[in-house]
Amino acid sequence: MHESTFYLILAIQTYFWILRENLKKYNTFGISVFCNNIYHVYTESDFADYVKLAKKPYRILGGGSNVLLTQDLNEDILVNNIKGIQIIEEGDEEVLIEVGGGEIWHQLVMWSAAHQLGGIENMALIPGSVGAAPIQNIGAYGIEQKDAFVSLKAIERSTGNVVWFTKEQCKFGYRDSIFKNEAKDKFIIVAVQYLLRKNTQPEMGYKDVKELLTQRGIVNPSVLELAQAVIDIREAKLPNPAVIGNAGSFFKNPVIPLSQFEKLKYSFPEIPNYPAGEGQIKLAAAWLIDQCGFKGRRQGNTGSYQNQALVIVNHGDASGAEIWEYAKMIQHDVKEKFGVELEAEVNVW
Ligand code: EPU
Repeated sequence: MHESTFYLILAIQTYFWILRENLKKYNTFGISVFCNNIYHVYTESDFADYVKLAKKPYRILGGGSNVLLTQDLNEDILVNNIKGIQIIEEGDEEVLIEVGGGEIWHQLVMWSAAHQLGGIENMALIPGSVGAAPIQNIGAYGIEQKDAFVSLKAIERSTGNVVWFTKEQCKFGYRDSIFKNEAKDKFIIVAVQYLLRKNTQPEMGYKDVKELLTQRGIVNPSVLELAQAVIDIREAKLPNPAVIGNAGSFFKNPVIPLSQFEKLKYSFPEIPNYPAGEGQIKLAAAWLIDQCGFKGRRQGNTGSYQNQALVIVNHGDASGAEIWEYAKMIQHDVKEKFGVELEAEVNVW
């Protein structure tokens, strides 16, 4: 290659490198990595057009609250910005709504509370977008999004066609759905339909919620009172991503066979446990991690949150790789002490 050609290619490469965009503002861990371009998509048809014409790899981002970015991406990022909460059908007891995939989940919860419609209030303050909620079937304080879910509308990435998914087709499980398995990276969720209830039966089975409401002298909470209780509990226990970078629970609560649980209970009689279907027990990952001495530990720019051992935080300028190394150390120590595998709940890119 002629020397001038070499320098020309180098200059072009440098030019495009400089033009790359930083994703720091687009992930709640606050990690700085670069991608090619960031496109904000406001309509379903713009998504369909993009996927039909796309020649290069791309990824979809919602609120960026369940992702750990460990490296620069030689890809475009499409941010789902499709907004709107629409009442589709209103009966005497129930209301069917359709919500744009780019709506902020917490704003949907507050909308439902303002309209005194129940069913999702226990999931107040969960960060992220409505389009991302079904992917990992978000949940908190005894309710999962599948409990109010009716159907969703998606764009198929290989064709640009609109495809509807029923609840059964989504195959929801604990922090799981078809979109984390056989349909992974194949669809863009543009709208979700939920059924909310007018005369709701509040779910107060969770210890923290029950205690706080009792303390407030509330026996039969309104949707807003329940949402407010959840907000207060979360604010006390979980770090606000706007202040300290994090992605909520980093690992799933592990589900193990009853036989393995019985042996563990013999060695650790106080181990928290919850029934998880026939012959299965769910353990509290936070407790396992806490017992290994990680709670409040700091290592370089990362560490475990002081009030919740399941949350890994970015104290400043942690890289995704640094956080991932720290997470692997937690997995290692928990496996060594309890013989239990912890699976990441966040998506590692
Ligand atoms: N615990 C500890 N140490 C800690 C924190 C908790 O020993 O540092 C013990 C608690 O005493 C309790 C148990 O662990 O016995 C469970 O803790 P907690 O009630 O805080 O709930 P979690 O299982 O850690 C799950 C969800 C959260 C959700 C809460 C409330 C998962 C992976 N996490 O946490 O969801 O808000 O229950 O329903 O299922 C998220 O998914 O990002 C998330 C924050």
